[in-house]
Amino acid sequence: RNLDLVKVDQGQIEQVILNLAVNARDAMPEGGALTIATETIDIPRAQQIGTEEILAGRYVKIEVTDTGTGIPAGVVPRIFEPFFTTKAVGSGTGLGLSTVYGIVKQTGGHVLVSSEIDHGTCFSILLPAYAADAAQSAEPGEDAETRNRDLSGAGTIMLVEDEDPVRLFSARALRNKGYKVIEARSGEAAMEILAAEEEQIDLLITDVVMPGIDGPTLIRLVREHRPHIKVLCISGYSEDALRQRIAEQADIAFLSKPFSLKQLAGRVKELLDG
Ligand SMILES: Nc1ncnc2c1ncn2[C@@H]1O[C@H](COP(=O)(O)OP(=O)(O)OP(=O)(O)O)[C@@H](O)[C@H]1O
Ligand SMILES: [Mg+2]
Repeated sequence: RNLDLVKVDQGQIEQVILNLAVNARDAMPEGGALTIATETIDIPRAQQIGTEEILAGRYVKIEVTDTGTGIPAGVVPRIFEPFFTTKAVGSGTGLGLSTVYGIVKQTGGHVLVSSEIDHGTCFSILLPAYAADAAQSAEPGEDAETRNRDLSGAGTIMLVEDEDPVRLFSARALRNKGYKVIEARSGEAAMEILAAEEEQIDLLITDVVMPGIDGPTLIRLVREHRPHIKVLCISGYSEDALRQRIAEQADIAFLSKPFSLKQLAGRVKELLDG
């Protein structure tokens, strides 16, 4: 969460991680563990690691580690060469790691590899931290106002989201800011809780697309009994049609996926304070 920023092309970095993850999978035909870890590190003085000369400074490290076959020491120097592959004809073109290398170099970073036969391989990517002092706590897409605002608040929120990780993280973030959060993993579950709940609920946060009762339907049903409840709808990029359907109902705020927890907390605060 408190990683420094890096200045990268998001699509390219996705390519990097994907290529490393696919290689890791191929190296573990019997299964194993793939670990992706991130960390901000300080390198106090310039150092030479393998062929890489790494300047002193602050870096964001992305490590992709597998517990697979490992790479023979004699092969390691060749793995970043275009078209170098040990895979059967038709299953590998040998372009994965050369792509990784190209992208990371173009971003001003380094790729390091360590490997042990039958134990696994670790690829470390070091990307220079971007203006670490000036922009440290900023999240992309966030203006200075949001960044420095106090995002704590009070009130009771019902959070309806079928994707567990999204719901759990969002609920936790909102609780940390001082809200009481009632979670539901479907529209049906939300209706059941609301039928039993005596307490005032100040805000309904709901995903748009869910199996069973979807967001727009849920909002309509809830408002039959609680006409004044505030509503924040969470929608993905591709849900414009639904979004229009919802916008026809009055008083609904939107938050587009993907959103940062700060953006969520900021939006909730606007709605409950206003
Ligand atoms: N995690 C790993 N474990 C073991 N060997 C690896 C690993 N990653 C790469 N290698 C070795 O490096 C070679 C080159 O990898 P690279 O991703 O460039 O090409 P590829 O995976 O063979 O083909 P492509 O990615 O184009 O489908 C692989 O063929 C393999 O021998
Ligand atoms: Mg590959």
